[in-house]
Parts: sequence; structure tokens; C-alpha cells
Amino acid sequence: MNVVEAEIYLDAAATTPPRSDVIEAIVEAQRKAWGNPSSLHNTGVKAAELLERLRWELAQRFAVVPDQLIFTSGATESVHLAIVGSAAKLTPGRIVVSGVEHPAVLAAANQLKNKGWTVAFWPVDALGLIRLECLEELLAEPTRMVSLIAAQSEVGALQPTDVVGQACRARGITFHSDATQLIPQGCPEFNHFQSDLVSLSAHKFQGPRGIGLLIRRSNLSLSPVQGGGGQEFGLRSGTEALPLIAGMAQALSVLPAYHLSGDTVPPGSGADVRRQRDDLLQELLEIQGLSLLGPNVTQRSPNHIAVLVGSAGGQPLSARAMVRELARRGVACSSGSACRSGQRQDSSVLTAMNVPEPWRQSGLRFTLGPWLDDKALKQVPERVLDAQRALS
Ligand SMILES: Cc1ncc(COP(=O)(O)O)c(C=O)c1O
Repeated sequence: MNVVEAEIYLDAAATTPPRSDVIEAIVEAQRKAWGNPSSLHNTGVKAAELLERLRWELAQRFAVVPDQLIFTSGATESVHLAIVGSAAKLTPGRIVVSGVEHPAVLAAANQLKNKGWTVAFWPVDALGLIRLECLEELLAEPTRMVSLIAAQSEVGALQPTDVVGQACRARGITFHSDATQLIPQGCPEFNHFQSDLVSLSAHKFQGPRGIGLLIRRSNLSLSPVQGGGGQEFGLRSGTEALPLIAGMAQALSVLPAYHLSGDTVPPGSGADVRRQRDDLLQELLEIQGLSLLGPNVTQRSPNHIAVLVGSAGGQPLSARAMVRELARRGVACSSGSACRSGQRQDSSVLTAMNVPEPWRQSGLRFTLGPWLDDKALKQVPERVLDAQRALS
């Protein structure tokens, strides 16, 4: 089969196509404000003025003051600064992370082990949602920090960050929320998270790659994780990536607002995304051998579909093989977290969810965005069926 020219791109959770206004904002900043914001001459001052205007705009979006924002290279760095940087200011104790975190959070938490910390995992149920009945036990002494993914990337589960955040605050526990997959579906105010620290990455919401944010509570004390020129209030050294920051601000400016609270689902990255997801999900579940993976739509990110893929006869199929078959048929999707796609191993998320072992490499993910139209999406179920038959 020929490679299809125009791919139907259903891998928003991995990355998203930058909007054209985002590209324009990047180019304009690169052209007009290419100076180093730390320089004292006019060229530098011009860059510094743009930097602070953008910081102010972004702060408005999250209803915080500008010095609560720290620009980073993306969520991986934000997560490390949040976890390693705040742990350095605390007496070592226990950090609790959910069993379904992104590898960046696991890596940052593991770094604390040689600083006298222990790491505990918050168990999840079969849908990938944390077990709230474990809250009292997990937040007891010596827990000093908790990190919870707001919207799970592989199975779409929306976690109760506000409930956990309130409980942490009442106990004086530092709470970080990795909101990388949530923000693209609706931008809450920082306070809605009930969080001390929130991480995000621009390329997940049609901004550029290589730029992200760490938002922190005003009086929260952090240590830098790398030294250098002392930019970003001394917390993140390195000359600021002004063009990318301009692109991120533009991308964020068009995201829908969202009041995050326990039982609400964000509106979705585009007006039609949720309906399109619902329609596609329904059609996919009509294919024999496919079953829903993760929560139903009331507790799931509005652009997210995950299925366990088997043959029509009920035998598990390799999701990686399905991804390749679908790529040949012009559909871009994923077999889980993009960062793990190079490795053939059971998904740690599906393992934490207690998915039966033979099915742990059968999780197939489709994540939608506003660049899709109904006509293209109509073609997807047929191509999935075709790919499934090719592998059965
Ligand atoms: C939930 C989550 N956290 C963190 C990251 C890392 O983001 P970045 O690659 O932009 O550093 C990702 C990216 O896949 C993610 O989905």
C-alpha cells in the first residue's frame, strides 16, 4: 500500500501541529526582539520588554502574578524543577506519586532517593484513577510531597487534583500537578488545581516544542537544579527562548477557559473535539476485538480515546504493529506514551491498572485536536478494521 500523503493526525498527546498564528508570533519575536533580555543596551531592553509583557499576559491567563511563572524547556524540565527544586528546601521524607505518572515524574522522584527520600506509589483502579480511599494512609507522616498527573496521557483518566491538593494543603504537604495533557483541553486558573506547583509544555497545545512553564505558589521556596546566569529569578539559568515564549503565549491565548473541579470535564481543545471523539469512540467500539481502555467519557480527557486491540477472535494484538499498519493507511496514532514508543515492553500504566498481562502491549491511543474534520474522521474506523485484519 502506498504511503498516504495527507495523514489523519490522531496523536495530539504526543505533539500537535503548530498554529499558523503561533508560527507568525515566533517569527516576529525572532525578527524584532532577537536581543538578549539581560543586555543593558537598547536591543537587550527591547527583548526584556517583550519578555516581561509576555510573562504578564501568560500570568493573566492563569490568574497569577508574573513572578509565579518560570519559563523552562518543556514539561520534563518543569517537573524536575518542581520536584527536585522543592525537595531541596524540605526535610527529607516521603514523596508520593501516582502509579500512572509520566516517566519525567518518575525520574525526578527517583533522584530524591539518594537525598534521603523514599518514593511511594499511589495505587490506581482498573480505569487508571487513583484510589482515593488510600488518601489518609498515603498522606500520613513522613509524606512531604505529592505529584499527580492531572490528565493521564496513555488512558486519558482525569485525576482529582483539587481533592488531593486540598488534602495536601491541610497537612502542609507540597503538591505538584503535571498538567501537560490537561491544559490543552481547557485552561484553568492556577488556584483551581489547589496545587503548589503546576507543569506544562507548549507543544501539546499547538505551540512550539522546547518551551514550557512551571507555575508556583507565590511564597513557595524552590532551589534551582542548574546554575548559570541566574535568569528566571535565579531559578532557571539560561538565556530566555523569547521566540518560543511568544509562540507559547499565542497558543495559550486561544485555549478555552475551564473551571477545574472534581466532577467536570474540560471543554476540549476545539469546539468540535469532544463530539468528534464521542462519535469516533462509538464507531471504534463497534469493531469486534476492540474494547475501551481507561475511564468512560465522564472521567476522561475530552480528546482522548484508548482501546485494547485484539483480533476479532479475541486474541491480543501488538499495538505497535497496529500503529505501523495504520501509518501505512494514513492514520497517525500511538501505542501509548510517545517517549516509550521506541521500547518494546509492557506499558507501566497498564500494569499499574492491572490489565491482564497478555494485553499490556495492546493499548492503542487516538488523541484528537481542532485540525481534524468530520470527513477525515469518518475514514478512521474502516482503516482500523483493515489494519486489524492484516494482523489477525
Ligand atoms: C503528562 C506528560 N508530562 C510530561 C511530558 C513531557 O513533556 P516534554 O516532552 O514537553 O518535556 C509529557 C509529554 O509527553 C506528558 O504527556
